[in-house]
Amino acid sequence: MKIQQLAVDSIEIVLSGKNLTLVLQALWHHNPLLSLQQRGAIQDIVYGVLRYLGQLEGVLSQLVKRPLSDKRLRNLLLVSLYQLHYSKSPDYAIVDCAVATTRKLTKNKGSAGLVNAILRNFLRNDTALLDLANAHETGRFSHPQWWIDKLRYQYPQQYEAILLANNHHPPMTLRVNRHKTSVIDYQALLNRCEIESCQVWDNALMLSKPVPTQKLPMFEQGYVSIQDAGAQLAAPFLDVRDGMTVLDACAAPGGKSTHLMEVANIQLTVLDNDQQRLDRVSENFKRLGIEPFQQVCGDAALTSSWWDGKYFDRILADVPCSASGVVGRHPDIKWLRRITDLATFANMQQNILDALWPLLKSEGKLLYVTCSVFFEENGQQVTNFLDKHPDARLLPIVHNEVNNGQLIPNSSHDGFYYASFYKI
Ligand SMILES: C[S@@+](CC[C@H](N)C(=O)[O-])C[C@H]1O[C@@H](n2cnc3c(N)ncnc32)[C@H](O)[C@@H]1O
Repeated sequence: MKIQQLAVDSIEIVLSGKNLTLVLQALWHHNPLLSLQQRGAIQDIVYGVLRYLGQLEGVLSQLVKRPLSDKRLRNLLLVSLYQLHYSKSPDYAIVDCAVATTRKLTKNKGSAGLVNAILRNFLRNDTALLDLANAHETGRFSHPQWWIDKLRYQYPQQYEAILLANNHHPPMTLRVNRHKTSVIDYQALLNRCEIESCQVWDNALMLSKPVPTQKLPMFEQGYVSIQDAGAQLAAPFLDVRDGMTVLDACAAPGGKSTHLMEVANIQLTVLDNDQQRLDRVSENFKRLGIEPFQQVCGDAALTSSWWDGKYFDRILADVPCSASGVVGRHPDIKWLRRITDLATFANMQQNILDALWPLLKSEGKLLYVTCSVFFEENGQQVTNFLDKHPDARLLPIVHNEVNNGQLIPNSSHDGFYYASFYKI
């Protein structure tokens, strides 16, 4: 009952506009007695409800005569429907628990009976109710209609695959630190611990099942980092070599920064405008036993406030974006974003790019990265940038899964966009 109730509370906070990761972090902080298993159960429910929210809402709307005004009751029903359809717990236990939670949530005496009746009605007619919910795109794909429409327009051939990939459980992928071990040797270590893995590409090892980091052999010794395979393409695409001066302009929490230092012996400046997130970069560097040349808290779009006048050979601009390529990992994103956010992000991205370009040496390269699939933040940004900067040339991104810079999300990796600019 406590688990259901905490899940209901968390969903309510997320849907009011808060970031899911932060909501769960706060929940663990305020409930230190929750066991790992209980946390796992809450996490599964909250992620699951957000993943399938469109479908669950489609089912619920058929089960109630008029929309429920009590948000907590509505969220409790969504949680229970998710559990009935997607979890292995026995139906009677889920319904009993929902009825007991209702009594805690509301003083209205009729509510418990209503919840009981709605859930039993679902159990009697689940196939028909789900079929009807899935007859609508928002139910079938569990995304807002504007998102579905935009993807269909921008990816007429692939939009369905993208939407379905967004609802998959994302894989856990490791980046093998070649300074400390090799992919083959680390895979052997994993085998010894009975952790199954396969190589996605280069240093990326995808686990068949996620495991807690404490279970990963030699993790604390820096043999591996956790990083999506798509994100692991940034360092090779930036083409860093020994001795270069490199700026990672939007660096926190440091996944790509640490990778850059694993592939070459560089002088790396790590920049981010969020000190708390920069602290996480420091922790990551510490675990790997490396240190960047300098770490700066500053605004990439306001270089006069932190730049010392020394030009860079390479710049990585992994800019803030809608994160529409990482919905599998963060299912709250699809419900929290508004279509108007894309213009806001595009503006921010242009300002950062325009400000960073003058800091690049002639014959240097700047890699523009987003974890988005929307053209507004990707191809359109490149066109705008090339129009404004006659000394910029777009270099080809060569990779068999990347098409015109776009890596589409699938069951092996998140979605990313890469554009490499060369300065003449
Ligand atoms: C996509 S995340 C970067 C992820 C990081 N590169 C990695 O691989 O771990 C974007 C980062 O940009 C930072 N950011 C947002 N606006 C910024 C700005 N104007 N200047 C510098 N950093 C900014 C955010 O704090 C966030 O950490």
